[in-house]
Amino acid sequence: MKFDEIWKNVRRIPHISELGARELYQVILDEKPSRILELGFAQGKSSAIMGAALKKLGHGRIDSVDLFVSMVRYNNPSAEELIEKLELDQIVFLHREQNTYNWWLKNMIQQQLRRSSRIEPIFDFVFIDGSHNFTIDTCAFTLVDRLLKTGSLILFDDLEYNYYDINERQNRSNDPPELEIDSYDPRARVLRTHMSESELREPHVGLIYNLLVKTHPNYGEFRTSQNGNWGWARKLRDWGEDYPKRREWQWTNILRKYMSSAL
Ligand SMILES: C[S@@+](CC[C@H](N)C(=O)[O-])C[C@H]1O[C@@H](n2cnc3c(N)ncnc32)[C@H](O)[C@@H]1O
Repeated sequence: MKFDEIWKNVRRIPHISELGARELYQVILDEKPSRILELGFAQGKSSAIMGAALKKLGHGRIDSVDLFVSMVRYNNPSAEELIEKLELDQIVFLHREQNTYNWWLKNMIQQQLRRSSRIEPIFDFVFIDGSHNFTIDTCAFTLVDRLLKTGSLILFDDLEYNYYDINERQNRSNDPPELEIDSYDPRARVLRTHMSESELREPHVGLIYNLLVKTHPNYGEFRTSQNGNWGWARKLRDWGEDYPKRREWQWTNILRKYMSSAL
């Protein structure tokens, strides 16, 4: 499906901008991923954009995860209705969780765990656009890393998002009480009441990208786009293959040391 065709259908739906959508669509065409994971689909706009690119390529599948509760805010159409209307439901698979996508990732890790203690990576592209909370998304990155294939890209949205600005925006908003949820994480209002001044002011996703992704020995090709709001990285290597061997080696050494001291 061509970009203009999909954009015509989703442009009024909230979240990803036209420039962002074009970039995402083009990256999918260039990278040709077979399995995409998206964390946070809201009303399904970015899922639809990526689905359209996969349709154009003629292969691939997207798994996207959000919360049941987000249907309160994101409806008419819901993500499910949008994806079905656009006939992308054989490409985009939407999953809803009670509490967090991290639980869905836990299930995927269990599914991909092999007898050799190796987790078989499955995804060729991951887009993280969910809670934007340091604690939740640090956990998400740790889990996603184990499922991401070597050579694949990961994208973080909203590097500059901070709770302080969201507080200000919500104080000015006229949303009815049932919609008085944070635009990204419905429970963020509760979380925010426990945050220190610096936790409110520092950009959580930016911290994850700068402190954990850019310093990670297995990642490289870092770049930002969309005026510094998007952070990209490529997984360049894995510890998958030799990790069990290394662990065995450590145990052999410990055993050897113990035996030589016993002699
Ligand atoms: C910014 S919106 C996603 C926008 C979408 N990617 C797009 O561009 O069209 C973020 C979504 O993440 C979901 N979310 C926030 N925290 C989550 C969590 N811990 N687990 C699952 N979904 C979460 C919210 O419900 C919300 O729908």
